Amino acid sequence: MNPIVFVEALQKEIQSTQYGRHPAELYDPIQYIMSLGGKRMRPLLTLMGAYLFTDEWEKAIKPAISVEVFHNFTLMHDDIMDQAPLRRGQPTVHEKWNHNIAILSGDVMLVNAYELLLDITPDKLRHVLARFNRTAAEVCEGQQLDMNFETRWDVTEAEYVEMIKLKTSVLLGYALELGGIIAGADAESTNHLREGGINIGIGFQLKDDLLDVYGDPAKFGKQVGGDIIANKKTFLLIEALEKAGGTLLDELNGWLSCREFDKAEKVRAVTEIYDKLNIRQVTEQRISDYFAKGLSNFEQVQATPERKEMLLSFTRQLIEREN
Ligand code: IPE
Ligand code: IPE
Ligand code: MG
Ligand code: MG
Ligand code: MG
Repeated sequence: MNPIVFVEALQKEIQSTQYGRHPAELYDPIQYIMSLGGKRMRPLLTLMGAYLFTDEWEKAIKPAISVEVFHNFTLMHDDIMDQAPLRRGQPTVHEKWNHNIAILSGDVMLVNAYELLLDITPDKLRHVLARFNRTAAEVCEGQQLDMNFETRWDVTEAEYVEMIKLKTSVLLGYALELGGIIAGADAESTNHLREGGINIGIGFQLKDDLLDVYGDPAKFGKQVGGDIIANKKTFLLIEALEKAGGTLLDELNGWLSCREFDKAEKVRAVTEIYDKLNIRQVTEQRISDYFAKGLSNFEQVQATPERKEMLLSFTRQLIEREN
C-alpha cells in the first residue's frame, strides 16, 4: 500500500465536506483554514492505524477527517492565544477576519468534528466518544498550562513534558487509536498505538519548538521566533535557563523580563544564547529519543510487518520534517 492513496482519499473527502453555509462569516473561515492544507498528519495516522488491521480502511475516513477538523479548530483558537500572524504561510483567521469570528468559527468546528464521528457504527461509537472527549479535555488542559507557563520562571522539564503531552501528543495517540478501534483491533494493540502516538507526539512538539527558533521561514509557514517573543517555556528555553550561568544567564533573564523590546532583536539575541549553549543539539537528541520510544511501542502492535511498514517509515520521516 502506498500512503499517497490515503493522502488523495483524505484530500477528496476534505474537499467534499460541508461545514455549513450561512452566515458566511461563520463558515468561510472554516473553509479557509481547512483548505490551507498542512501536513494532514493526524488523519493519515488514523488511516494508517486502521490499515494495520484491515483492508477496509475507508471506514475510518470520516472519523479521520473529524480529527483533522478538531485539530484545525485548536489551531484557530491557539493562534488567537499566541497572537500568531501566520499559519501555513497565510494570515491567521483572527488577522484576516477578527477575534470574535475566529472564536465562533472554531466553536462550530468542534461541533463539526462530532458530526463526522456519527459515521461510526453504534457498537463502537460510545467507546470512540469517550476517548475523544477525554482527549479534547486534555488538549484544553495542556493549552491552559502553556498559557500559565508564559508568566512562570521556574517551569521544570518534567512539567514541560506533561504540558506538551496534553496540548499535542494525546491527539496523535487518539488519532492512531481511533483507526485501530474502527478496524476492530484488540485492546492491547490500540493501547500500544496510543502510547506510541503519545511518544512521537512529544518528539513532534519538541521539533515544533526547535523549528520555531531554527526553522526556515520560507518552509515553516509560521512566524519564526514567536515562542521567544511570547516567553513560551519551550524545551529550548528551559534547557537554556538550566545550562546558562554568569553573564549569559543575566542576559537571558534580561530579555525574559524586558517589557518593551524590538521583536527581531530579542529573537536574534535569545537565539545567539541558545547557540552558545548548544541547545539545538540537546533538543535534537531528545527528539530522537522520544521517536525511538514511539517506534518501539509500534513494534509491539499485533499486525504484520508488511502492514506496519507504512506507519514506521512515515514516523521516521516526521523526525526530519522542516515544516
Ligand atoms: C501544529 O500542528 C500544532 C502543533 C501541535 C505543533 P502541525 O504541525 O501538524 O500543523 P499542520 O496541520 O501540519 O499545519
Ligand atoms: C499548539 O502548540 C498546540 C495546539 C494547537 C493544541 P503551538 O502553539 O506550539 O502550535 P503552533 O506552533 O502555533 O502551530
Ligand atoms: Mg500555543
Ligand atoms: Mg501557537
Ligand atoms: Mg509552536
